[in-house]
Amino acid sequence: MRIGILTGGGDCPGLNAVIRAVVRKGVTHHGDELVGFRDGWRGVLEADTHALDLAAVRGILPRGGTMLGTSRTNPYAIEGGADRVLATLERLGIEALIPIGGEDTLGVATRLAEAGVRVVGVPKTIDNDLDATDYTFGFDTAVGVAMEAIDRLHTTGDSHHRTLVVEVMGRHAGWIALHAGMAGGANVVLIPEQPFDVDAVVTHCQHRFESGFSPIVVVSEGAAPKGGELALQTGETDAFGHVRLGGIGIALASLIEERTGREARAVVLGHLQRGGTPSHFDRVLATRFGLAAIDAVHDGESGVMVALRGTDIVRVPLSAATARLKLVPVDRYAEVEVFFG
Ligand code: F6P
Repeated sequence: MRIGILTGGGDCPGLNAVIRAVVRKGVTHHGDELVGFRDGWRGVLEADTHALDLAAVRGILPRGGTMLGTSRTNPYAIEGGADRVLATLERLGIEALIPIGGEDTLGVATRLAEAGVRVVGVPKTIDNDLDATDYTFGFDTAVGVAMEAIDRLHTTGDSHHRTLVVEVMGRHAGWIALHAGMAGGANVVLIPEQPFDVDAVVTHCQHRFESGFSPIVVVSEGAAPKGGELALQTGETDAFGHVRLGGIGIALASLIEERTGREARAVVLGHLQRGGTPSHFDRVLATRFGLAAIDAVHDGESGVMVALRGTDIVRVPLSAATARLKLVPVDRYAEVEVFFG
């Protein structure tokens, strides 16, 4: 078969491992010809392709990013975009498509499947907020980066007797903050699901100082104070309507400094969490997703996504990927709250 593959949305450690697994099993096991589209849906709109034979995917397993490039292009936000996508697939003889992405990329995939394109999706996001899968690859690596940063910040914070606020990614869901905060022994963890009380944050910081140590506050970029607003970097939105978040860490550090009377600094981890080499967990999960996706295509599936349930890779309807976000439940937050202060 002639099968197209693309990566869309924010990059994520493990994308190359998926591409490699699809190509390796597709070529050697099924006799497929794989066509990569550059920069997500932009490559399909513009028929910008990259031939993916075995040689093309040698050595990419441990590499972060995506060899195909990515973008947040939304064909449905462009006049005639969906028709151009269908025309490219027809002209290039693409019989099935494997899009690797989060809710936006897979949302486009869902609509194309409804329009008759044979699609098998692969879920990806460092935020781990897709409800249809227990974990997405990239999350484990991002948490590892954030945890290491927290470990390092403990020693410098204690030396200078100052609060350190660590801003991590997490637009709607606080999974990265929750896991990194618990693993790193943070004294306060603030997530988008739970609007926070500034007085309580200050009390926890004071308590930590009284114990002879300095506080570490981990905050998701999408967290906001009770009755307050999200911190935005710009008012602009992308092709899928998302605003660019960022700034809550700096705002919070200045509030804490003012209220505790002790110096506070903010560290924004940003794209450090997304770049670089994937963890072993992410490499294995991404590889298993890739193998399962190419097999699903050959089983005649369409409109499905591969997903992790327990330790099994299963197939779920593509629509399930975008139906609901997986948010941090109250009882999971209560577990990390035990360590506040
Ligand atoms: O969706 C993943 C994510 O990492 C979010 O946590 C974050 O808000 C966004 O991507 C940042 O995207 P960009 O790379 O476009 O700034």
